[in-house]
Amino acid sequence: MSVQITPLPGATFGGLVQGGDASAEAFAALPDALTENSGFLLVPDMHAISDDPPLLVWLSRLFGPEVEDYRLTGAAANTVHTDVPEIIIVSNARPVNHLPPAPPDPARTADGGLPVQFPHRRGWHTDQSYRRPPPDISLFYAVTPAPEGQGQTLYADGAGAYVALPGDLKERIKGVDGLHVKPRTGRSEHAVRAGDTPQPLAPHQRPQRQPLVRTHPVSGQPTLYLCEAGQMDWVEGPIVGMEPGIHGDGAKLVYELMTHMTGPDFTYAHHWKAGDLVIYDNRAVLHSATWFDAEAHTRVMWRTTVHGNPGPEYADESKSWIPAERSAMS
Ligand SMILES: [Fe+2]
Repeated sequence: MSVQITPLPGATFGGLVQGGDASAEAFAALPDALTENSGFLLVPDMHAISDDPPLLVWLSRLFGPEVEDYRLTGAAANTVHTDVPEIIIVSNARPVNHLPPAPPDPARTADGGLPVQFPHRRGWHTDQSYRRPPPDISLFYAVTPAPEGQGQTLYADGAGAYVALPGDLKERIKGVDGLHVKPRTGRSEHAVRAGDTPQPLAPHQRPQRQPLVRTHPVSGQPTLYLCEAGQMDWVEGPIVGMEPGIHGDGAKLVYELMTHMTGPDFTYAHHWKAGDLVIYDNRAVLHSATWFDAEAHTRVMWRTTVHGNPGPEYADESKSWIPAERSAMS
């Protein structure tokens, strides 16, 4: 049976996938549908993945030529699925022990809603943007989500946000690069504000430039592409060629763009149910995790990452995150 794809309820972008069985025929339409729905698809009731985790990898391969093997890319061993190394586990449970972000302050918006917009909500990023070439698509599956009202994931539409930018701001960011860096290296906005000493970085850990506006390699649409506090380099950046640091012009530009991009016209808050599979295109969509009560509840999510079509500006680049001696051996 083929799938039906309808606009995602409660969102200005994205698609809801229903009615398919987990067969190649049913899911063959999903890669095109992902592009046609601004880089976001929700596939509910994929419980079969919990019983058969390689199914998630099989689905991931529909979206690109390379599904990351986390044993080979420097991931902490305790976060990699023991039987299926293409799955990274996001969980507060042992052995992963990954804690959720703190709740925003204040915890609710003035009208009692879930805070979404930057800078009230922090943590907006696109996966692995500190790598060149960056990844294409992530598949994120809820084995055991947080209870209702907690642990949502927020998503923002980079193409829609770009179209709505004022013309002068589009001009200002034309050809400009952001400087992205791996979290927890002492270069986040928070670390710089706290006066932390940046960690020494090996060549394969160095911050990486990425265009603020990427041309999506499949849709051809321009999309905003940046992160905020934790995944930009606030020591040398966050914007290449602009005054660096937390008080510089680069910081002001990140705040301006991120506030725009995470406004209500371009964002969607996903409230997870067990068996939900979300497919998001990192070239077009930002996301942010939210708080849940990790003392009281266990949350288990599985993610895969698909690489291979970053666009012509990355043509023939070797992988920045693989140490040179290892890539020479492979
Ligand atoms: Fe992420």
